[in-house]
Amino acid sequence: MKVFAHRGASGHFPENTKSAILEALKIGVDGIEVDIQSAIDDYMLIHDSWLDRTTNGTGKVNEFHVSELTKLNAGNGEVIPTLQQLFDWNNNKTLLNLELKHAFELEKFATQLENNISARKISCANVLVSSFDHHQLLWLKRRLPWLKIGALTSSIPINYAKFAEDLNAYSVHVDKSFVNKAFTDDAKKRGLKIYAYTVDKEQDIALMLDYGIDGIFTNYPTQTKAYLLSLQT
Ligand code: G3P
Ligand code: MG
Repeated sequence: MKVFAHRGASGHFPENTKSAILEALKIGVDGIEVDIQSAIDDYMLIHDSWLDRTTNGTGKVNEFHVSELTKLNAGNGEVIPTLQQLFDWNNNKTLLNLELKHAFELEKFATQLENNISARKISCANVLVSSFDHHQLLWLKRRLPWLKIGALTSSIPINYAKFAEDLNAYSVHVDKSFVNKAFTDDAKKRGLKIYAYTVDKEQDIALMLDYGIDGIFTNYPTQTKAYLLSLQT
């Protein structure tokens, strides 16, 4: 079962910051999930559309320029990173799961993604764009047919993972409270990967293993990897 660092190694470092990302890379996770919001002039790693919870700023991310946002404290004196910085730090080491959080100018995002991937020689296998907004995913998949997309849900749809298959997704990402054996089996039958978020407790990790989940997003990748290893011995 793959282990993805949720918002970086956010259990021990401020979420979606450089320290959380570098720690995840040091641990050797199978991927790093980050949340993307759009500022006026670039894409930033921050979960909420409002600055207030995770920074000392106030107001909406999309009403500021990068130069203003990077003056804020995102926890322990860290700044809100840009998407470019994430690509720099990762340097092709692991899979990046970019979760699009808000209504984006998708053409601008697609162009920037394409440019990054070609300039940095990133393998398409190592980029996975996910969203709860399936309209955004559909648009992106049509614009960039090679892009792996992950359909997020916090529900058990009537036809289980059919919505993700219809989107031509690579994976379906399900809230751990709504995933079960039937959902897992259905996703696999459709040729989709199924990942669960946010899984931190050993009891929940064991349950995901029982279901046959392909990967989990966790705030504590070190502990999660150690627990998974302990089950093998
Ligand atoms: O991408 C999985 C998970 O991060 C989705 O929920 O609110 O933690 O971004 P949230
Ligand atoms: Mg997220």
